[in-house]
Amino acid sequence: MTGAGVVTLKDGTQALIQPLRRSDGPALSAFYQSLGATERHYFYPYPVADDQGDRIATTAGRDDHITLLAWDPEATRVLGYVFVRFSRHHAEPLLGVCVRPGAQQNGIGRALLTRVLEAARGRQLPEVTLGVHKDNHRAMRLYESVGFCVCGETRNVIQGVVQWKMRVSLTPEEAGERAPRRGG
Ligand SMILES: CC(C)(COP(=O)(O)OP(=O)(O)OC[C@H]1O[C@@H](n2cnc3c(N)ncnc32)[C@H](O)[C@@H]1OP(=O)(O)O)[C@@H](O)C(=O)NCCC(=O)NCCS
Repeated sequence: MTGAGVVTLKDGTQALIQPLRRSDGPALSAFYQSLGATERHYFYPYPVADDQGDRIATTAGRDDHITLLAWDPEATRVLGYVFVRFSRHHAEPLLGVCVRPGAQQNGIGRALLTRVLEAARGRQLPEVTLGVHKDNHRAMRLYESVGFCVCGETRNVIQGVVQWKMRVSLTPEEAGERAPRRGG
């Protein structure tokens, strides 16, 4: 299960979702450079390096990462990025997602999340967790609609704030008990 495919977005246009490849570094760097203050605050509160995407692209194909990119129909611009990391260095599989400014609220975030969770299930991961700023209601609404629940708090030491920790179970029994809500 790779999570790859074409999706039709809310405005009728299409996006191509595919796993990160090593050659995607420059396009992923351009994606990071396109992020505004809101995306940086909620998703990546660190300096963005010129070769940011190249560094991330070195993880392509690794068996402890699932990384999907959403591309415009011409496959020239990265519109969105989602990852689940679950190496032995991480206590629990951790998810992050971001959509390019100007491409948000068009269904890309939901498409990326749905597919990365399918892929995580395919890799037999029992659960996926994430940390979200308590005022990021848009992201929380989306996470809840695909089955995540708040399961506690987590300290974000970089920004000095306490965030919600959210979790989704991917085991058939628990997932069945908490079927995702559709339509937010
Ligand atoms: C959060 C984010 C990933 C959502 O992706 P998106 O492509 O904009 O979202 P979608 O268009 O797929 O919308 C999915 C759901 O999000 C919620 N949502 C989207 N825009 C919203 C808004 N303006 N207000 C409230 N909820 C909103 C809705 O529940 C929506 O459900 P719907 O599909 O039934 O309409 C994206 O907005 C983003 O990158 N934000 C900045 C970075 C960030 O916050 N990342 C998450 C860090 S934890």
